[in-house]
Amino acid sequence: MRTELSYSPLSRIETELLAVTAVDTQTGTGPDARPAPELLTGDGALKSAAAQVLASGEFKAGANETLLLHAPAGIRARRLLIVGLGKQARATMHSVRNAAGTAVRFTKPRGIRELVFALPEAEFLPPGPCSRATVEGAFVGDFDPDTYRSDRQDLSVQTFTVAAPGANTSAVDSGFREGVIVGESQNFARTLVNEPGNKLTPAEFGRRAAAMAKEAGLQCEVHSTEKIKELKMGAFWSVAQGSEEPPALIVLRYEPEGVQDGPILGLVGKGITFDTGGISIKPSDNMEKMKYDMAGGAAMIGAMRAIALLKPKVRVVSIVCATENMPDGKAQKPGDVQTAMPLSADKPGKTIEIINTDAEGRLVLADGLTYARQLGATHLINAATLTGAIGVALGTHNAGAFSNDDETYAKFQGALETSGEKFWRMPLGDEYAEMIKSDIGDIKNTGGSRYGGAITAAEFLHVFAEDTPWIHLDIAGMAWIDENRSYVARGPSGVAVRSILEWVRSYGG
Ligand code: BES
Ligand code: MN
Ligand code: ZN
Repeated sequence: MRTELSYSPLSRIETELLAVTAVDTQTGTGPDARPAPELLTGDGALKSAAAQVLASGEFKAGANETLLLHAPAGIRARRLLIVGLGKQARATMHSVRNAAGTAVRFTKPRGIRELVFALPEAEFLPPGPCSRATVEGAFVGDFDPDTYRSDRQDLSVQTFTVAAPGANTSAVDSGFREGVIVGESQNFARTLVNEPGNKLTPAEFGRRAAAMAKEAGLQCEVHSTEKIKELKMGAFWSVAQGSEEPPALIVLRYEPEGVQDGPILGLVGKGITFDTGGISIKPSDNMEKMKYDMAGGAAMIGAMRAIALLKPKVRVVSIVCATENMPDGKAQKPGDVQTAMPLSADKPGKTIEIINTDAEGRLVLADGLTYARQLGATHLINAATLTGAIGVALGTHNAGAFSNDDETYAKFQGALETSGEKFWRMPLGDEYAEMIKSDIGDIKNTGGSRYGGAITAAEFLHVFAEDTPWIHLDIAGMAWIDENRSYVARGPSGVAVRSILEWVRSYGG
């Protein structure tokens, strides 16, 4: 998708499709309170073109509601699409992001290849952030998961133009440029998540990360079995030992020029390219979905791409532990005891009693977190499709977040205001930590009870983050969208890329 920015008056833009936003300005609630839709534009010709249909009451300007006018009078566009942002009092740049996605997804199946989206002109919608959100929403909306259809027709919008009439400001321009980087990075993560297990093996995951790193200007190393053994990553290896596919330990580094001190942020991702459950094998219903068990790793790689291109002044290291989780003659068994990577040579690694081989994500992350700390990370964030239990707790509209440090979490909370993603902070606690103590070794890899399963999983990771400020994102309920929405196709969501990026930027501009 090519993106352009135009400052021309809307009514003079010649295009197949011009999209403009509207809000419902009705504040009353009684039975007589009719919707009062209003176009968010100062363009008189556009307003006149839409006046009749807006007065008809057919269009209520609900969030992502659409109305199409052909051959609108008095303007040069061939079609005018009005997209609702919902109630004025609740319209934000996040509503604009979705509206842009809705406009793109309206355009695609109609075979229309160009779209101009007018930035809302309203004092409650700042043009800079809206410009960014619009472009992000357009990229997110443009993505479709049908990569392997033999008769695939690429219906992507070829040219997406943000129209900001008269608003030729640096805020609009830089928002626009950031939006391109962020939207493309989120889609990069989604492309990885969408790949099936037979295509995206751990080694292939490593190659894709390395190719991205080369293009974006990041340092990248991709290791395998030998290095995992040399580092004594016994927890990571306990999962990898059961697969014919060699594992990949992906290390990306971002070191901006002139930044020699201050924090080093460690971004750690779960990269299970397919999770069968191992010897504690999963039921076959929905097992095909477990190709997306590397979504946490993909989110980190997508975020690193955006970091490399947006260049915040803070050092970042990212570790993705990629492997399959398979049943096999060599696979680990329930009851096995594994030794995790030691943080330093003078400290032994913690011992883990394997209760359920399907609780494998926490195992690979344990060593990933330790390795990030060994490489100097002062602050940690990890993302993982870690537990089904987080979906039970929060459903599919909030992802879970856990942290051992309020100050670090406050920065993440701030990042959510820009990203527009919904994360809900969940508790940690000694009572939960107690549930994963082992009789034979230090800890068990499950808490035994399904109750609080997302929290005991988080406490497992906490054992390895120790006192290093740390955030754990459990995205299992959010990484895959089951039904089509007006602004995004069903399939991989790319959740967490934008929030991780903004959290990183909060440390270095
Ligand atoms: N990858 C799964 C978690 C998952 C579930 C992700 C549903 C996406 C959708 C994880 O490895 C897993 O199997 N977790 C187990 C933990 C249990 C054995 C303690 C689970 O959630 O059932
Ligand atoms: Mn599992
Ligand atoms: Zn898993």
